[in-house]
This record gives sequence, C-alpha cells and structure tokens, in this order.
Amino acid sequence: PKATVSLTVNGKSQSLELDTRTTLLDALREHLHLTGTKKGCDQGQCGACTVLVGGRRINSCLSLAVMHEGDSITTIEGLGQPDKLHPMQAAFVKHDGYQCGYCTPGQICSAVAVLDEIKRGIPSHVTADLGTRPLLSAAELRERMSGNLCRCGGYSNIIDAIVEVGG
Ligand code: FES
Repeated sequence: PKATVSLTVNGKSQSLELDTRTTLLDALREHLHLTGTKKGCDQGQCGACTVLVGGRRINSCLSLAVMHEGDSITTIEGLGQPDKLHPMQAAFVKHDGYQCGYCTPGQICSAVAVLDEIKRGIPSHVTADLGTRPLLSAAELRERMSGNLCRCGGYSNIIDAIVEVGG
C-alpha cells in the first residue's frame, strides 16, 4: 500500500508518495536523492545511516518513513555546506576523522547529537556506573559513539574531533 508522507528535510518541506514499507533511509536516498546518508548493514548495526530527527539521532534504516509524518529531519547535507562547514565537519577534516569516508556522515550526525545529549545531562552506561553527570571524556565519547562503526579504524581521530568541538 501507498501513503503520502509530509516531512521537513534540511529545512525544506517535502511530500512523498511512498510504499508504506519504505524506510526513512530509502526515502532519503532513493526518493529525495540525498545520498550523503549511507546504507551499510541495513539492519541497525553499523550507524552509517544515522540522521537527526528533531535533533535526536536515529538509525534511519530501522525506521519507516511513514512514522515521520510532520518530523524535522537533518541529514549530513543539512548540517553544513562545502563552503561553510558545520564545526563538527570542520573538526573531522582537521583531525583526519576518516579514511574511506563511508561511515563519516553517520559519525558526524551522531557526534553532533552526542554533544547535545551530554549538554542535556542524559546519562550513558559509563556515567551511570560512575554515578556522575556526563563528562566530555574519551571513555564517555567512545561509549556514546559505539553504535557507529568505522571499518578503517579511525576511532581515535574521530574522538579527537568530537573533543575539540565539545571542549
Ligand atoms: Fe542502518 Fe547500518 S545501515 S545501522
């Protein structure tokens, strides 16, 4: 069955007629041609498809587009422009927070959301164990970024980039 879905993507209103089984990831890539968001595993394990919904991060491969009626979605294309990078994008460039780059859009969307989670005092497993408020430590960031895999192993540079923006 088909359904019409209205959502805002990177500040632009969109109305899409979609098969109700279409994931948000496929709606973004195949219907809106926003191919910055990547499909890695398509089953919620790699984080390559991470986008922001109302500022919170989700794996877009696990979410049906029809569930996002009225939502405001931000993809990597909406965070910055080539001539005006988002501070997190600029920090990834500065710290070489990538090698092949496939996981990078998801890493950056996730990193932006992580700093917001820390700012809002949302606990992680690390801070819950310590009984403290969230800290901008490497251990904390590694835990919070653990849903975003990088097969090139660029993790330490990715953490350096996030620390720079958050610190
Ligand atoms: Fe969505 Fe891997 S493509 S988590």
